[in-house]
Amino acid sequence: MAEKILIVDDDVDSLKLIGLMLQRQGYEILAANNGQQALSKARSDRPNLIILDVMMPDMDGYEVCRRLRQDANTQAIPIIMFTAKTMVDDKVAGFEAGADDYLTKPTHPAELASRIKAILARSASQRQPETDRALTIGFLGAKGGAGTTTLAMNVAAAMSQNEPTILIDFRPGQGTLGMALGFERSTGMANLLSRPTSEITVRVIENEIVTHSSGVRLLLSSARPKETLLNISPDGASAVIHHLRTISRSVLLDLGAGLNRLTAHLIQELDQLILAVEPNRISLSMAREILGEIEQLGMSQARINIVLINRAQSSLQIPWQEAEQILGHEMTAIISPAPELAFQAAEAGFPIILYQPNSIVANQFSKLAEELSARIRSVAGGELHS
Ligand SMILES: Nc1ncnc2c1ncn2[C@@H]1O[C@H](COP(=O)(O)OP(=O)(O)OP(=O)(O)O)[C@@H](O)[C@H]1O
Ligand SMILES: [Mg+2]
Repeated sequence: MAEKILIVDDDVDSLKLIGLMLQRQGYEILAANNGQQALSKARSDRPNLIILDVMMPDMDGYEVCRRLRQDANTQAIPIIMFTAKTMVDDKVAGFEAGADDYLTKPTHPAELASRIKAILARSASQRQPETDRALTIGFLGAKGGAGTTTLAMNVAAAMSQNEPTILIDFRPGQGTLGMALGFERSTGMANLLSRPTSEITVRVIENEIVTHSSGVRLLLSSARPKETLLNISPDGASAVIHHLRTISRSVLLDLGAGLNRLTAHLIQELDQLILAVEPNRISLSMAREILGEIEQLGMSQARINIVLINRAQSSLQIPWQEAEQILGHEMTAIISPAPELAFQAAEAGFPIILYQPNSIVANQFSKLAEELSARIRSVAGGELHS
């Protein structure tokens, strides 16, 4: 696979010149002509290396460098600062901002090429081996409409503030995640799952990932009924997850409601399962059935989390203590009703935790995300993927 290099320069001629030269050497080239564009391309395209000009209007290279280093999604990408400045102080400023190397213009093409080669080789040897190390968390509704997608999307948004996170909408034909986040194109999963398993590679998957402006990365399904008819091979679905584990720290799956052939298969891939339940008789008894079934599939109690979602305020609802008794399982979290906020956030195309970060539900989602990360990390190495 060709390595991707992002070149950032406000001078179009110099972009073209360096770009063409590196393209000839077999690299895939991405270009940005200002700082903002550089940050968003770095996030969405994950280049293997960034060549960064220092003197740019609006945001200079130092600032771009600092921001890349602060963002969990981009902090490990090697950066070569490239500039007309030759003063020692400028180099120091570049290294302080987080650059890995520094080159002054004009540079001999051979020198640039050899520095790039050296840095790429160094970063490849430091990179984790391509095994799937990421954590996989599935979100399953006890019943349709329980708030599963809302829960998955908010937990994903909270997690992606700390580490690379990908959320997959595993519901071809009934995908609503893309719509809830304002995406028009949402056929990524269908494109992948209609391929033979051998063709599902990291490269192919990366082409189908979309990035929300909040930084959450997504693999979407559409709500076109046609997608429901796709003949999905469980192996193909597993391949998508395995590959994603090599490029992300957390892989979250919106599995929709109830068990079916595909979700029963996917459950075996999970480190943790979140079962979304509403505090009413029907939802609770469906949850009980699902719990029994999941345990038969070999998932231990320790990996099952129940989240009680109160979508409506009602004194007739079953109190959480009673829900725990009915299910024979503790609640990991309880989400408060927030009908207006949920509606407004969906209209705006944003997860609640970003739309109104100080709200009660936003705190509940964030706390759940933290707890899941902590819990999973604490058993890492032990029960993971066993
Ligand atoms: N805590 C909450 N309070 C009030 N309304 C909520 C809450 N969480 C989600 N909702 C709303 O409930 C509705 C259903 O939510 P969502 O689409 O997340 O459910 P779902 O279980 O994924 O549904 P489906 O079975 O269709 O996939 C949405 O209108 C959503 O905005
Ligand atoms: Mg849903």
